[in-house]
Amino acid sequence: MTILPWFRNNKCPLYLAPMARFTDIIFREFCKAQGADVMLTEFVQADAIIRNDPRLWETVDFTERQRPMGIQIFGSNPESMGTAAKLLVDRCSPDFIDINFGCPAERVICMDAGSSMLRNPKKLGKVTAAVVRAVPQTPVTVKIRTGWDEDHIVAAEVGEIVENEGAQALTIHGRTKEQGYRGEADWELIKQVASERAIPVIGNGNIQTVDDVIRIRKETPCAGLMIGRAALGYPWIFRDIKHALAHGKAPTPPSISERWLTIIDYSRQIMARPFREQRHRDLCWMRPKFIALTKGMPGSRKIRGELSSVVTLEDLGEVAERHCERFGKNYP
Ligand SMILES: Cc1cc2nc3c(=O)[nH]c(=O)nc-3n(C[C@H](O)[C@H](O)[C@H](O)COP(=O)(O)O)c2cc1C
Repeated sequence: MTILPWFRNNKCPLYLAPMARFTDIIFREFCKAQGADVMLTEFVQADAIIRNDPRLWETVDFTERQRPMGIQIFGSNPESMGTAAKLLVDRCSPDFIDINFGCPAERVICMDAGSSMLRNPKKLGKVTAAVVRAVPQTPVTVKIRTGWDEDHIVAAEVGEIVENEGAQALTIHGRTKEQGYRGEADWELIKQVASERAIPVIGNGNIQTVDDVIRIRKETPCAGLMIGRAALGYPWIFRDIKHALAHGKAPTPPSISERWLTIIDYSRQIMARPFREQRHRDLCWMRPKFIALTKGMPGSRKIRGELSSVVTLEDLGEVAERHCERFGKNYP
């Protein structure tokens, strides 16, 4: 087994978690600049790739700077998962293909994909094997949850299966499908699987602060850590962690105006992209992104209401200006 380069020398890389509708190419570029080491695209359905749905080619686009970069796929049919992986590798040359066996969304469960596969570890193994076979020159990794519910915890069993089928890393989101995104992540189980497996295990679930990272690195043998929602509201978390690990304390946080400038620059760059769909012509579809990016800022509840009527970049600038005035900072 060859260890993927980003795990060599016990680097414990920081992954930005894939988050559908949020971790787009521009957001990822910013996280990379702040120190995220490894990133994945939002998940794409294998059958849609095979149908050549043009919207999906936008989703899997990435920049050279974002490498090492994985494309995440979901589906339940071994053959089509293999075919989709091959199409993606031939067209996009990602550093790895990641298989999603964790999504709890109803539309994904209905297809017997995502976390539904945790109910059938044998089939999950077949899908993994088919993808590994289809792209022999590209590493394949797997992302799972701990199990379907607390009575069906399968992370250890599934970890062994995917390792035997040729997966080269395993991410465990330490919650069950039943938990969704609520409650504690089971770091004891992640620790157990990480110590049993030869392949690198990436721990994920509720990493919120620099102290969480320092503690988890000390207490578990995880080869990497993945950060999700904490990075949506505060993508500077990667910079803070790197700085704290190197210098013993986090750097001064970005000012409110710096945060707004980042949000506005992000929106400008997104809108400059050649979207095919009419619904992308104004900023309405980006409102959830703005709400996520301002979460945790002082007065964020109040701005939430204002953000839900933003249509243009000018509207967004006005919300920013009012917010900065309210909190006594100059908006440049
Ligand atoms: C809005 C949203 C979208 C997500 N989309 C994906 C996805 O496309 N693929 C995936 O593997 N996980 C997805 N996840 C799960 C995250 O990658 C991560 O496992 C989860 O949020 C737990 O990490 P956290 O507690 O740090 O947020 C998504 C989570 C959220 C909140």
